[in-house]
Amino acid sequence: MEWHRRHVLGLSDFRPEEMEFVIDTARSMEEVLTRDIKKVPALRGKTVVNLFFEASTRTRTSFEIAGKRLSADVVNFSSGTSSVTKGETLLDTARNIEAMKPNILVVRHSASGAPLFLSRHVSCSIINAGDGANEHPTQGLLDLYTILKVKGKIAGLKIALVGDILHSRVVRSDLHSLGRMGAKLWLCGPAPLVPREMERTGAIVTSDIREAVRGADVIIMLRIQLERQKTAYFPSLREYSRMFGLNRDVFSLAKDDAVIMHPGPINRGVELSDELADCERSLVLRQVESGVAVRMALLYLLAGGSHVAH
Ligand code: CP
Repeated sequence: MEWHRRHVLGLSDFRPEEMEFVIDTARSMEEVLTRDIKKVPALRGKTVVNLFFEASTRTRTSFEIAGKRLSADVVNFSSGTSSVTKGETLLDTARNIEAMKPNILVVRHSASGAPLFLSRHVSCSIINAGDGANEHPTQGLLDLYTILKVKGKIAGLKIALVGDILHSRVVRSDLHSLGRMGAKLWLCGPAPLVPREMERTGAIVTSDIREAVRGADVIIMLRIQLERQKTAYFPSLREYSRMFGLNRDVFSLAKDDAVIMHPGPINRGVELSDELADCERSLVLRQVESGVAVRMALLYLLAGGSHVAH
């Protein structure tokens, strides 16, 4: 399959075969990561700029590692130490970075649509690394890849996404990546945090975690995003944890081989108990591992790199 995209702004317009192509490419990249020397010259001479206007541990670091594994020059821009603090606009910032001739801008921003906006004003490729509550496409793809590695399929799996659905860009990307590949998706959280219109996506909506988890193959726990909540959606974190946290008792309702995922960062003891976050059925760190291969695949495909086996 030929790769025609210049940008990865979201998964809403990704066809299943395109997602499969990214996953196949990620598998090749994962092979590179098992070598003694985990580096190939595929993107030599290309430049990737991580343009992050919001905090990140996993996404920024894994884009940096992914670019370096492919021999790209990787530059990290962090708004907190930039001229944004002196009032420079998003567009001026991006145009000035573009003047230095990068091939790819990896953009994270608290405003939904910021990467789309930039894609209309700069000539280099844009990858959305998370925009407000809109999308987190690389998380959607790495979740897909992680589940495929463990379960060998997506179609027919019961996958429960539990927590702050309203503010979750991960959910919006997972709905495309996992839903389009045939998973039976359940969305669960306090009623004000689970918009009923989400049912239009084909997902089943509930506020009963036991119903969501019963018979599930995969449980994706979501972080309570206090920084995006403009009002109090539940009385207290303690109450939230009691009603919507995953503990051993609730987890026992899932299938015997069910796995637990979380995009991170985890509020330990709120959405996920310490015991479950670190148990053998937790895929949290495998998700992070998959993230490097998936991001290598996207950088490679967008930058039109030479063959990875070189
Ligand atoms: N999953 C995720 O996006 O984590 P970071 O915010 O640390 O990048």
